[in-house]
Amino acid sequence: MSATDARDGEPIVQIRDLYKEFHRDDFTIPVLMGINVDLRAGEFMALMGPSGSGKTTLLNLIAGLDRPTSGTLRVIGQDLGNTSEGALARWRSQHIGFIFQLYNLIPVLTAYENVELPLTLTRLGKRERREHVAAALEVVGLSDRGDHYPRQLSGGQEQRVAIARAIATDPTLLVADEPTGDLDAKSAAEILDLLQRLNEEFAKTIVMVTHDPHAAARAKRLLHLEKGVLVDDQPNGQAVKGAGR
Ligand SMILES: Nc1ncnc2c1ncn2[C@@H]1O[C@H](COP(=O)(O)OP(=O)(O)O)[C@@H](O)[C@H]1O
Ligand SMILES: [Mg+2]
Repeated sequence: MSATDARDGEPIVQIRDLYKEFHRDDFTIPVLMGINVDLRAGEFMALMGPSGSGKTTLLNLIAGLDRPTSGTLRVIGQDLGNTSEGALARWRSQHIGFIFQLYNLIPVLTAYENVELPLTLTRLGKRERREHVAAALEVVGLSDRGDHYPRQLSGGQEQRVAIARAIATDPTLLVADEPTGDLDAKSAAEILDLLQRLNEEFAKTIVMVTHDPHAAARAKRLLHLEKGVLVDDQPNGQAVKGAGR
């Protein structure tokens, strides 16, 4: 992975007057109401707020999984409000790495095959894919677990495989939705060490939704959502370094 594709200071996400509403029957559910935020390359941002405040909705919009109702959303050079589905899917596969609370590994595929999956959407040949998978598994410390199936791994190991899958294509931006939400404290700390290392050593820009103060403490910037409105945005003065580093 190169550290040069995301330099500190370059704007990578621009959100202007962003609204998102969902529709159900005759009802309109307003979820995000006038969000304004800029994210620079190299940032590690934690998105916090009560359940139902719109965190996942905002994360999905930034990652190009959903579209704004109104406002502007520019992410890595792409106007996400005005992009066709096909172009959006290609853009996502090139630029975004996804990390979920429940890992979302494919149970019938080995760890190796799970990590290889996003690479099959690229032009990489078999040999290059193998190199990318090996490098990604090495970063997460699971080089010796490639032929294990998800059920043969602990929750923490499953999440590390999921992180290897997220970084295999060398994306600029990693989005993580409650990545430690289903883990014990020790496994959670390992995942946070890993995310912090991806940010600091591999220059990955990270947006992480979390309830967990330990997780938020690792981010460089904290954003608070309340009922679809951004109520607080500040640098995290108490960001802690990973244990032993
Ligand atoms: N696809 C959807 N259709 C209708 N309502 C939705 C949809 N997705 C989310 N919502 C609603 O939007 C609000 C915010 O949800 P979400 O972004 O998941 O919050 P959070 O991640 O902060 O818990 C909730 O009231 C939720 O019910
Ligand atoms: Mg959520």
